[in-house]
Amino acid sequence: MINVLFVCLGNICRSPLAEAVFNRLIQQEGLDDAIASDSAGTSDYHLGEPPDRRTLDVIQKKGLDIEHLGRQFIREDFHDFDYIIAMDESNLANIRKLEDAQQEGSYRLFLMREFEDDADDLNVPDPYWGGDSGFLEVHDIVLQSGKNLLDYIKKEHQL
Ligand code: 4NP
Repeated sequence: MINVLFVCLGNICRSPLAEAVFNRLIQQEGLDDAIASDSAGTSDYHLGEPPDRRTLDVIQKKGLDIEHLGRQFIREDFHDFDYIIAMDESNLANIRKLEDAQQEGSYRLFLMREFEDDADDLNVPDPYWGGDSGFLEVHDIVLQSGKNLLDYIKKEHQL
């Protein structure tokens, strides 16, 4: 199994939405047996909580599903995941602080928007303090990037 982990700060807005979108893309390609995704936050602010109400609204509106409770990114994730995808540069910096020179995992670490065509900003904007439209914007960004990420993984693993 190829395991992909999406990481944001709180694990209630961006990364669970990315997980829901990516899982649907995997299903659509019939790759459920080959690729799986999960999400985590670099903070401990929302441990055990379901995604934000506004995240769930977008998931429902787009006909997606999610079954996830907030959890914090831990060192072990470097071993358990093949692709670790940070939503923004601050999440990426937080992940890097936990990296160990002796790390034995063979994970690859990216920013989500590295996979987007012509992104003018490499950060998926944090929608937490804004209105509902920010969540739809995040959806569109993670869908575009997610499609290219899936193409990249398919090529890398000859799927
Ligand atoms: P997320 O959004 O990182 O996309 O899940 C946030 C959620 C909660 C907080 C910040 C960002 N917070 O400060 O509680």
